[in-house]
Amino acid sequence: MEPTIHVKGKIALITGAAMGIGAATAKVLARNGATVIVADISDEAGQATADQIVKEGGAAEYISLDVTSEEQWKQVISTVVEHHGGLDILVNNAGIIKHTKLLDLSLKEWRLVNSVNMEGVFLGTKYAVETMRPDGTSGRGGSIINLSSVGGNIGAPDMSSYCASKGGVRNFTKAVAVECGAYGYNVRVNSVHPGNCLTEMFKQEFEEMVENGEAESIDGAMKFYMDMQVLPDMGTPEDMGAAILFLASDASKFVTGAEFHIDGGLLAK
Ligand SMILES: NC(=O)c1ccc[n+]([C@@H]2O[C@H](COP(=O)([O-])OP(=O)(O)OC[C@H]3O[C@@H](n4cnc5c(N)ncnc54)[C@H](O)[C@@H]3O)[C@@H](O)[C@H]2O)c1
Repeated sequence: MEPTIHVKGKIALITGAAMGIGAATAKVLARNGATVIVADISDEAGQATADQIVKEGGAAEYISLDVTSEEQWKQVISTVVEHHGGLDILVNNAGIIKHTKLLDLSLKEWRLVNSVNMEGVFLGTKYAVETMRPDGTSGRGGSIINLSSVGGNIGAPDMSSYCASKGGVRNFTKAVAVECGAYGYNVRVNSVHPGNCLTEMFKQEFEEMVENGEAESIDGAMKFYMDMQVLPDMGTPEDMGAAILFLASDASKFVTGAEFHIDGGLLAK
């Protein structure tokens, strides 16, 4: 039978879902049938995202989660499974960026970026796999989608901590996908690599380029990035949400350990 792309009846936890790609993904998954748990450290904005989904007829709730905290991850996963009867989808989306020259980058800044972008993904994946595997508390398998970046495939000046963390996410994803297959966990694990996607994070990137003298203006910074692409427009958070919907749905049941470049052709050049 021809597969249709939906996530009806599935329980989805999305980190960093107060704004940007995470919020758009929460809305896309909710519109396509999932019950969505919006998780973030930004409580007010996260609650507002969940409220908006409910107002539009979807099923959503907000839960506070700092992805760098192992204790919070354990608590959140067990609360979700207890309240909703299981967990089918985890989107490890929360991430931060630091635009600093290597020679100015402190160990503290390096650790901060890697603790959110890499360790957060490790912790979420570990506790999601634990509950999703056949003898886990959820026990019905699942799909984990990790947000890497084109910066996980190629380098960029002044972004060594970010690129290292995203390269780590890329290959961690493949390793866990293979391990889940080896142990019969029935969990698929894939990474999504956004290119230039207009969110707060990217606006911050433009501002930092102007501050560092790498671009004369915000428009100049934007042109720098646009010139890397094949397609003429910036990506939108919804473009990322569409790819994540596919990976979360059973239509992608033969896809694991894969990386999806949603980048307007940037990595093809
Ligand atoms: N925007 C882009 O162009 C782009 C490109 C490549 C990759 N990405 C990746 O996509 C993901 C989302 O990016 P975005 O542009 O939507 O970012 P954003 O800055 O707009 O949103 C990030 C969200 O993560 C939350 N967050 C930060 N630290 C957290 C923590 N410790 N625990 C829980 N939540 C936390 C923030 O509160 C915020 O809601 C990130 O992993 C990012 O690296 C984005």
